[in-house]
Amino acid sequence: MLIAQNISLKPFNSFGIEAIAAYYSRIDTAAALEELLQEPIVQHQKILVLGGGSNLLFTKDVNGLVIHNQIRGIHIIHETNDTIYLKVMAGEPWHELVQYCVVKNWGGIENLSLIPGNTGAAPIQNIGAYGVEIKDLIHEVEAIQLTDGKKINLSNTDCAFGYRDSIFKNELKNTCIITAVILRLTKNPIFNTSYGAISTELEKMKVSTLSISAISQAVINIRSSKLPNPSIIGNAGSFFKNPIISKTQYLQLLKDFPTMPSYPSRETVKIPAGWLIEQCGWKGYRKGDAGCYDKQALVLVNYGNASGADIYELSTAIIQSVQTKFGIYLEREVNII
Ligand code: EPU
Repeated sequence: MLIAQNISLKPFNSFGIEAIAAYYSRIDTAAALEELLQEPIVQHQKILVLGGGSNLLFTKDVNGLVIHNQIRGIHIIHETNDTIYLKVMAGEPWHELVQYCVVKNWGGIENLSLIPGNTGAAPIQNIGAYGVEIKDLIHEVEAIQLTDGKKINLSNTDCAFGYRDSIFKNELKNTCIITAVILRLTKNPIFNTSYGAISTELEKMKVSTLSISAISQAVINIRSSKLPNPSIIGNAGSFFKNPIISKTQYLQLLKDFPTMPSYPSRETVKIPAGWLIEQCGWKGYRKGDAGCYDKQALVLVNYGNASGADIYELSTAIIQSVQTKFGIYLEREVNII
């Protein structure tokens, strides 16, 4: 079992932030993971499980063991006339999986095209975009407990999914490694074009017959036009969650800010954090190499050599100004390490 020491994590996080792992082990097979979990170091060191590294910000070196889960594989485990149960190993890059399913015409995850990161991380924050969340497709999640190496299976309900939230961010935080996700996909796709920008993009593309491939392409076009490509500009997607406020607070704020956009639900209202941040004047702001992206204010970026502390400091200043102007607290969505 190879456990390396003092390894740079810069190539393994989409923010492109320098941080050193005291111990590091890259895992490519289930057998290697089993072997690693029997090493005493696992019980003695703090563990950080790393997938695609696309939803975290390193603000300091990692003083423990980084387990870099790269176990790959996609298998059909059950199939009916209209449904496919697909077991996807945690190290499969998410977008490659989406493309694989689009080619097979298995519907369900096409609206989640071009989301960076690996499949194993997708349930942790319940990835979502353009009217779909992964919780809508998850049948089961397989994981291994770090304490005793025991395999656990969590049903969709067990995962306690919420908006950018799950049991893996709460009770099970740092206690297990997700090894596989079982998705329930359909052979008779139901097209989800409810999110405004998708239908506009499909019209622009002059699509006459709707297909999951067309939807996937529309999402790719929209995302590419407003979100920075992490291989060019370091970022971790939305840095903050869209805040959820009470209807009373919303109606009060509307008096002062009549153009404030919102996603209403029954008792609460979700406000696009990007709008709040833009109203505070941050959109396009840059200090050194840390910045607020000029096409989507919800995304913080590293133009080159920003440190995690630089990005964190910027996020704190943004939180404070949104709090002062709107009385709304922005919660960070990205995992701060
Ligand atoms: N807006 C602004 N200024 C900005 C950005 C947004 O005014 O700089 C306002 C506009 O009114 C716009 C609205 O916010 O119409 C919504 O913007 P957008 O469609 O870009 O979506 P979002 O609510 O900002 C969420 C997700 C994204 C996901 C999109 C599309 C969160 C935290 N973010 O962003 O997810 O792609 O919806 O479904 O929920 C991610 O999690 O990394 C991510 C990119």
